[in-house]
Amino acid sequence: RFKFGLRIGVLTISDRVSRGQAEDKSGPLIQQLLTEYFESKNTPLSFVTALVPDELPQIKEQLLRWCNEDSLSVVLTTGGTGFAPRDVTPEATKQVIQRETMGLTIAMMNESLRCTPHAALSRLVTGICNSTLIVNLPGSTKAVRENLQIVMPLLPHSVALIR
Ligand code: MTE
Repeated sequence: RFKFGLRIGVLTISDRVSRGQAEDKSGPLIQQLLTEYFESKNTPLSFVTALVPDELPQIKEQLLRWCNEDSLSVVLTTGGTGFAPRDVTPEATKQVIQRETMGLTIAMMNESLRCTPHAALSRLVTGICNSTLIVNLPGSTKAVRENLQIVMPLLPHSVALIR
């Protein structure tokens, strides 16, 4: 399937964006950065996007739809990875993955900690649900840039191994 390109889901997880109180900057940024990177590699991409509040059942439902029914290559989430009581993205992710991909998590965390000690305040999880790789990213655009820089080059090989 990889020769037909990567099918990517971008899930924005935010109470404020869901209520219309803030603009989704990180979801579109993920799409932009992936498009720029993979255009230079001649890898075709297709995107689906969704927006949910910080509610575990809604996050889980969207992840399961994309992994089970749509069988996307990769799902990138943004937001809800911190220590606040409403931050439940890592728990929702852990409930849908069968296998954790610890190396990806460590690679992102390691590089992020070189950018800022605040990286330690993300509880992001990465793992495999059926044949879809799920990667949590923090909510800020700065964190999205720093984490994507690490994980993007690893996506083609990761996806090729999963399928
Ligand atoms: N990771 C990187 N690379 N760069 C950052 O600036 N910010 C951190 C962290 N991870 C940051 C980062 C901060 S300040 C927080 S609170 C956590 O991500 C959680 O963010 P979230 O709740 O929006 O997911």
